[in-house]
Amino acid sequence: MKVLVTGGLGFIGSHTVVELYNAGFEAVIIDNLSNSSINVLDGLERILGKKPEFENLDLRDKQSVQSFFAKHNDVVGVIHFAASKAVGESVENPLLYYENNINALVYILQELTKMPQANFIFSSSCTVYGQAEKMPITEDASVQPAMSPYGNTKQIGEEIITDTAKVTNINSILLRYFNPVGAHPSAEIGELPIGVPQNLVPFITQTGIGLREQLSVYGDDYPTPDGTAIRDYIHVVDLAKAHVVALQRLLNKKNLAKVETFNLGTGKGSSVLEVINAFEKVSGKKLPYKIVGRREGDITEAYANTDKANTVLGWKANLTLEESLASAWKWEQKIRS
Ligand code: WQD
Repeated sequence: MKVLVTGGLGFIGSHTVVELYNAGFEAVIIDNLSNSSINVLDGLERILGKKPEFENLDLRDKQSVQSFFAKHNDVVGVIHFAASKAVGESVENPLLYYENNINALVYILQELTKMPQANFIFSSSCTVYGQAEKMPITEDASVQPAMSPYGNTKQIGEEIITDTAKVTNINSILLRYFNPVGAHPSAEIGELPIGVPQNLVPFITQTGIGLREQLSVYGDDYPTPDGTAIRDYIHVVDLAKAHVVALQRLLNKKNLAKVETFNLGTGKGSSVLEVINAFEKVSGKKLPYKIVGRREGDITEAYANTDKANTVLGWKANLTLEESLASAWKWEQKIRS
């Protein structure tokens, strides 16, 4: 059975392609390579022993989307990763984000409404919660006004899917990721940040390898045990597996509603300093860092309540923060060798 993976050469998308094949599916990948590299396809071939079908398409082009679905009318589901995802960039260039993250979604959904039964997995984010009142965060925590156009596109995307599923044949699962980190154990695929990494873990591994002078820790005056901000760092392989479980749930018609939402995290919060310590432990490296001011828009704390994912979806994250960091470090060393 063939699954369309949009953004399938990206960080989470490529790891999900691997888990789809491990579960007996085939994937057809759409990616416009705006935030990924064609070399990821070779990495996938080395892991899978075969090269997934790939089309370099821009989903903002309605015609391209229509002709893709006319040609590939045998896909049993769509996992939609393709989107711009840099919070800071979205503030500078909101229209790029609304065009890329919203128009593309609408064009795909329009094609899905023509299929007998359409299964749609949407890449969402814990960013929709903003700074949630209560930890750990459950799926019924209120969605806060978005702190960035990027976060707004995730909220709007969820609303578009919900409104559309009500009156069409589309069944959907919204997956709200916490902080995806790490790399495939083979080190054939991993995170490929373009330019200076915005996210913590790639900045740490690039500092560890000597690409960056030192890590700036954005604030140690948060109301947390060690003063640094807390997040739920989930291994990208665990996260990828959740997408396959979610798709199988829809294919087997096990979903309890036309649209279901699940938080995908480990359920454990880790502070920035704890991540640094864990990295030093797994790498044997002393990480140079300095404490600087808080980053605009950052929240104090976010980690997932995983009960619904564990009991309803039937998925649980197994890999630890140290395993995530060890895999990220192995990947960093591999791509710099
Ligand atoms: C984690 C912690 C920083 C870099 C972002 C997006 C979110 C989602 C995941 C897409 C924070 C601190 C970071 C650095 C630091 N993306 N930090 N020095 O901000 O929780 O979430 O990525 O869906 O939408 O907002 O992740 O890795 O940027 O930061 O101290 O050089 O590390 O302040 O506390 P974040 P992050």
